Amino acid sequence: MGERVVVILLGPPGAGKGTQARRLAARSGYPHVSTGDILRQEVRDRSDMGMRVEAIMNAGELVPDELVARIIGQRLERDDSGGFLLDGFPRNMVQARYLESVCNGLDLLIINLTLEESEVIKRLTGRRQCSGCGKIYNLAYSAPQIEAICDVCNGALIVRPDDRADVILERLRVYREQTVPLVEHYRERGYYREVDGSQGAIEVSDSISEIMTRSGVQE
Ligand code: AP5
Repeated sequence: MGERVVVILLGPPGAGKGTQARRLAARSGYPHVSTGDILRQEVRDRSDMGMRVEAIMNAGELVPDELVARIIGQRLERDDSGGFLLDGFPRNMVQARYLESVCNGLDLLIINLTLEESEVIKRLTGRRQCSGCGKIYNLAYSAPQIEAICDVCNGALIVRPDDRADVILERLRVYREQTVPLVEHYRERGYYREVDGSQGAIEVSDSISEIMTRSGVQE
């Protein structure tokens, strides 16, 4: 691999992309760039962009491609040494073509976390996130020590508005329609790898680290 690399975490909603990206960022030093997190911050800030995307996100639809492309373009322009971890981008073929056009000279490593839909639903209905530090919990797998309070910063734990049962089904429909063709496109490439996302979080993390080490992305 070259000097700068873009590691892309793909996978259905709830596959563990955010959980793993945070671990990997801590381990590798690469910045974690999550379009979902950036958009949610815009919503919290009540910015023009946030006001524009809030209803779209709460309905489980994708926000317009040109908007997320702008976010990614601005982020990649900032000079971070080593590389990036992309979580939630690209989501469809239009976004993938955009990424290829701006990643000229950067190496790509795509890690697809696979997960059955029944498990997606279980994970997302049980997800809670700290409103302070952003730490992600799960009522079934990684519950906080005190109900609804973050173990790390004592922040209040919240349910994401798009984790309602009907919205989860819509997000899965959008994933099948828009992102599965993208996965098929990447599957043929030498830089595509798959990890069984149904393993425990530590095992998934170890599998990703092994791939990154074998690919020369980390020591
Ligand atoms: P985004 O935030 O990207 O949501 P998503 O892709 O649907 O993924 P999630 O964040 O829901 O899940 P995750 O895979 O990160 O899982 P997590 O680690 O949290 O996007 C949200 C919205 O923003 C989109 O719907 C769209 O509107 C908009 N958007 C974003 N990017 C866009 C783009 N590029 N184009 C257009 N629109 C865009 O884990 C889930 C739960 O499982 C947690 O409770 C966690 O604790 C638990 N868990 C994780 N790993 C494990 C494990 N191994 N075992 C057991 N439990 C686990």
